[in-house]
Amino acid sequence: MMIRSFLYYLMVLLGLFLFAFCKNEGRSDLRESSIELGKCVWDKEGVVSCAHPEAARIGAEILQQGGNAFDAAIAMQWALAVCYPEAGNIGGGGFMVARKSDGSYLSLDFRESAPAAAHRAVYLDSDGERIEAKSTDTHYAAGVPGTVRGLYECHRRLSRMDMPSLIDPAIALAREGFPLTARQARYLNEHAETLRERNGAGTAFTRSGEWQVGDSLRQEDLAATLERISQAGEEEFYSGYTAELILAEMRQAEAWFQAEDLANYRAHWREPISCDWRGSKVVGMGPPSSGGIALCQLLAMADLLGLDSLQHNDLNYIHRFVEAQRRVYADRSEHLGDPDFYAVPVEQLLDAGYIAARVLDIDLLQASPSAEVLPGQFAGESMETTHLSLIDAEGNAVAVTTTLNGLYGSKIVVEGAGFFLNNEMDDFSTKAGSPNMFGLIGGEANAVEAGKRMLSSMTPTIVERDGALFMALGSPGGSTIITSVLQTLLNTLHFDMPPDSAIAAAKFHSQWLPDKVFFEEGRFRGGLLDSLAAMGHTPDSLASLGRMDLAVIQPDGTRCACGDLRADNTAAGHRANENP
Ligand code: DON
Repeated sequence: MMIRSFLYYLMVLLGLFLFAFCKNEGRSDLRESSIELGKCVWDKEGVVSCAHPEAARIGAEILQQGGNAFDAAIAMQWALAVCYPEAGNIGGGGFMVARKSDGSYLSLDFRESAPAAAHRAVYLDSDGERIEAKSTDTHYAAGVPGTVRGLYECHRRLSRMDMPSLIDPAIALAREGFPLTARQARYLNEHAETLRERNGAGTAFTRSGEWQVGDSLRQEDLAATLERISQAGEEEFYSGYTAELILAEMRQAEAWFQAEDLANYRAHWREPISCDWRGSKVVGMGPPSSGGIALCQLLAMADLLGLDSLQHNDLNYIHRFVEAQRRVYADRSEHLGDPDFYAVPVEQLLDAGYIAARVLDIDLLQASPSAEVLPGQFAGESMETTHLSLIDAEGNAVAVTTTLNGLYGSKIVVEGAGFFLNNEMDDFSTKAGSPNMFGLIGGEANAVEAGKRMLSSMTPTIVERDGALFMALGSPGGSTIITSVLQTLLNTLHFDMPPDSAIAAAKFHSQWLPDKVFFEEGRFRGGLLDSLAAMGHTPDSLASLGRMDLAVIQPDGTRCACGDLRADNTAAGHRANENP
């Protein structure tokens, strides 16, 4: 009898071992034989690129399992919420621009919105002055998160796989942990004191000693939150137990969010912004993002300013684009905001005659001081975000940019739920004419109002060349996103650089105010900067500009993807035919 039961248990154990072994074998086959990860991957059937290798791997695995680009984008966004807590999020919001394989375009706005308690003076003291850091470092900095609604909205309309299968990989990452990159360990150490001050010592993000590269970050609270959402759907986040945890957290700020703010939050399908440029079609995000409009204005100005006669990054190239950007960002400050609250003059801003008039006063030899460049008028007219780019085997293309705004957003973790709240309210013009954390100023169009969405610079973009899908791209970088996307676009479309060189090329940025031109440190000749100064520009430097993610269709129809070498960005791709 004893021998029989011993044999029985032995068989069960053997069975379990074989099951686990086969499962793991399957997984490693999947990764080794047909999924490739790297800064760039070439000649693939489906590709993804994003800020972290774990999320890139998960995206490629979903594509390989037969998911489409939307499935993969959703799984990657859940994964980034775990493995990229700096900016990946469920406590923030973002935008998606997509081109379906039938050639139709969609754009989804899941930007955060101001809670009902918000009003114009909320960030001002009794003298009308800005209260230091209230819109960046406190509970009042958070807008109502949009990401979870956005993912479900996208899923309902465009997905093939069931949602739990897309959340599962993120739950596993949160529960089992993932190895921190050197950059992530450094950031967590640099911000440990603030994270402890705002959240106590009990979150997953701090520990007694310093974080080292390769340490595993396990997030039990976040795993449980994701599991609840997976089981009960989006309402769990907006009116279930997670909502209760968010509201409990908000009690520390006189109930900045109310239950209705969360329950009433909706994502919106919006009309994408598109423009034709030299045989290419560029499709981007409309208001409440400024990205699509600004990009199209700048491309039109590039033609008017004699792009064909200019060398990449030489004196005249930089001067002319800085002058164009001065005018485009001045327009942004005056005319752009949430279209549900403010009549954004989209057609006028993109009108060829208007754009031609805007560049008329550009002096080709001399900088125009920003103080003298006013936003255009119409006659009779009333530092952390994350992007993902994907193209699947069927030809669906997705560009998604989401953010918490600052690094780790407000750095406030919802107690018990394990995720950071955004500090997106700072993207509003919290005081007319006074700069936000990106130096951007604004007025009426982007003033704080209950229920309104704050203006964004996020620029998820899709490009067609000669009528066929060519590229999905985007970047983090606050106000510098627009100029990073523009330069990467010009590098590919105009200068014919391959994707890796287009990303690697040195970048510069200007935005009207502050009246400066920022250059990537050490990447532009001193003589060039001196010449620009002699023309009246004020050169300054930034350590780096943009962290691009590109997915591109190569001339033979295969796909490639590249992630920016300025950070941990990683591309991944699969070739289904290698692993039938
Ligand atoms: O929506 C925006 O424009 C900003 N909240 C984006 C912030 C950002 O890109 C920070 N990243 N470096």
